[in-house]
Amino acid sequence: MKWRGDKIYFDTFGTSHSREIIITATGLPEHTIDKEAMEALLDRRRAKNTVYSTKRMEEDVPVIKRDDEMFFRAEIRNHNVRSGDYNDLYGIPRPSHADYAAHLMDGRLDFSGGGEFSGRLTALLCVLGSVAKNILKGKGVTVSAWVSEIGGVTGATYKDGLTDEMLSCGEAGKWTPAKEEEMLAVIERAAAEKDSVGGRVECAVVGLPGAVGGGSFGSLEGKIASILYIIPALKAVEFGLGFGFASAFGSVANDPLRMKDGAVTIVKNDAGGINGGLSNGNPVTLGVAFRPTPSIGKKQQSVDLVAGEDREIKIKGRHDACIVPRAVPVVEAAVAIAVLDAMLEGGKL
Ligand SMILES: Cc1cc2nc3c(=O)[nH]c(=O)nc-3n(C[C@H](O)[C@H](O)[C@H](O)COP(=O)(O)O)c2cc1C
Repeated sequence: MKWRGDKIYFDTFGTSHSREIIITATGLPEHTIDKEAMEALLDRRRAKNTVYSTKRMEEDVPVIKRDDEMFFRAEIRNHNVRSGDYNDLYGIPRPSHADYAAHLMDGRLDFSGGGEFSGRLTALLCVLGSVAKNILKGKGVTVSAWVSEIGGVTGATYKDGLTDEMLSCGEAGKWTPAKEEEMLAVIERAAAEKDSVGGRVECAVVGLPGAVGGGSFGSLEGKIASILYIIPALKAVEFGLGFGFASAFGSVANDPLRMKDGAVTIVKNDAGGINGGLSNGNPVTLGVAFRPTPSIGKKQQSVDLVAGEDREIKIKGRHDACIVPRAVPVVEAAVAIAVLDAMLEGGKL
């Protein structure tokens, strides 16, 4: 997992089943670390004893090894590794996981834990993202994400207007409050049927000054999207009205400009706070789709790459029936890093 912004660069090392996982970064501005906020963000990603999450419980205690102007390095020990769960899957790629594509890359046949493609590495994104969130918070910029859909049950969406409840998600929550039970019921049903289910996470950046980003090739949308697509299982990104623009007319989709108390305001926000690749002073709003977790207990068709035969498999081991709730802080972390990079690049910090 690596990403290069205009100022910030990070790289991760280790895999789901290695002794530890490591993140290094350069290009961060001067900062202090809010350990409590970092732990809180990691806690929102942590697997708990819930219907939707893996039974692999990890403490996720980050150890900051170096944090100065030049270099940031943090590690998290992997404790709860059970590679034996994958013995039956030697040479048998899990459909729609990274296994077969990784085999094409380097010939590997051991797919234990998903290797470097595992969602486990997103804990590291939360470590760095928490640093970014904290720097942004100091500048009055908040990044909040929440679950807006699980398997067809839709909850709060920025398209209907941002609420305080959504924005407070960036501190602690994850669900659209009124829909938590309904959403959990869909996940429960999927888990009971040894299946998995996808969903949508939405995110809002509030307090961002105008003119952050860049035209043409340096667009703010491009920068945010490029980091979001690092997140495993994230398959689509839209800003503002997003795919809704395809069926819209300009007279409805355009966001009117008005004077209010002597200042220019953009009355609605179908643009998702970005025009021409630059922030326009409105909140940046975006939605992402997560695919259903590839590892499911239901019978699936695959192949045995060693024997060169078709195989039917039922995946055992510990997997999330729905990764969406755990991915919410990861989205926040990724967006915060991209926005910080754009602010640094534009001299807005
Ligand atoms: C927080 C998180 C946890 C994940 N847990 C699992 C899991 O338990 N089982 C699984 O098959 N995939 C899991 N994934 C998704 C896979 O890592 C991902 O689907 C796979 O690497 C293939 O990448 P792609 O879906 O982006 O193509 C998880 C993803 C995230 C973000």
